[in-house]
Amino acid sequence: MRKHAFLSLSLLLAFLCYCSTSTLGQPAQAPALPAVAPAKPADSPAKPADSPAKLADAPTPPGPPDVTKILQKAGGFTILIRLLKRTAVADQIKGQLNDTKNGFTLFAPTDAAFSSLKSGTLNSLSDEQKIRLIQFHTLTSFYTLENFQTVTNPLRTQAGDTNPGDYPLNVTSMGKQVNISTGLVNATVIGTVYSDNRLSIYKVDKVLLPLDIFVAKPPVPAPAPTPTKPKDDKNTAGSPKSSTTTTTTPTVVGSDAASLAEHGVMVSIGVSILIAAFSML
Ligand SMILES: *[C@@H]1O[C@H](CO)[C@@H](O)[C@H](O)[C@H]1NC(C)=O
Ligand SMILES: *[C@@H]1O[C@H](CO)[C@@H](O)[C@H](O)[C@H]1NC(C)=O
Ligand SMILES: *[C@@H]1O[C@H](CO)[C@@H](O)[C@H](O)[C@H]1NC(C)=O
Ligand SMILES: *[C@@H]1O[C@H](CO)[C@@H](O)[C@H](O)[C@H]1NC(C)=O
Repeated sequence: MRKHAFLSLSLLLAFLCYCSTSTLGQPAQAPALPAVAPAKPADSPAKPADSPAKLADAPTPPGPPDVTKILQKAGGFTILIRLLKRTAVADQIKGQLNDTKNGFTLFAPTDAAFSSLKSGTLNSLSDEQKIRLIQFHTLTSFYTLENFQTVTNPLRTQAGDTNPGDYPLNVTSMGKQVNISTGLVNATVIGTVYSDNRLSIYKVDKVLLPLDIFVAKPPVPAPAPTPTKPKDDKNTAGSPKSSTTTTTTPTVVGSDAASLAEHGVMVSIGVSILIAAFSML
């Protein structure tokens, strides 16, 4: 009996060791790769020999439209392109166009629009705020210019939701004229850069500055020696809003949760074995 119990305990120890190393190993791996869309099981049997060969030598599969390429071709969007790439929103759009049927709408401020910003406006932003700024220019649905006549304001942008403080914007339209209001900036659509049935890109004459960045945190603390009281009040009033860091990317949260759940299962298995081992003693 003793021997038996000893065996069970050493088994248990080995098992727990295994658990702790395997769960320790996981967090290192999880954040590295964002969850890849599961391969469609229906598609693969249809053309098994075909697709790998085609992917290998032909670099022109009819994938989603490439936003940065379209803008490059159109010309006059160098600053926007740089921001789209740096914030990885370009990839985000590509991924979403591939996955969803809803499509996408991008308001593309021209280089002239960016240069008319107060100098230092972009530099004053954190990386997180730059991402929000670019996401604020994208709607997670496809809109034709005519569609804007029937939208209900405020519209949800990719940066958040329709609630105040969640980066909404308003679009008003009459005929083919479309205006966008952020509460801080009134911009006008001055042309269509691209439109198919899932992606539209509209040229806008101003950078859409979201209230949620630029009122909560005024751009460039100018070396003004006079400390104005009203500005300070705004600062403190707006600061809770500006703490958007709580929203982490869903993939990371998901994998953490998954490994936590797994850990929980492992622990309960371990406990059951422990109980079994003791009942043998
Ligand atoms: C689009 O999705 C398919 C399958 O879902 C995938 O094989 C392909 O790599 C994706 N393309 C891009 C550009 O994300
Ligand atoms: C759009 O804004 C311009 C001024 O910038 C204004 O003249 C026009 O009436 C507005 N149109 C709509 C549909 O709001
Ligand atoms: C946007 O539209 C909503 C609903 O019409 C309105 O309550 C809100 O004040 C508008 N916001 C801006 C910034 O124009
Ligand atoms: C934007 O337009 C609205 C009226 O459509 C006006 O009340 C507001 O002052 C304008 N805002 C700016 C920043 O020009």
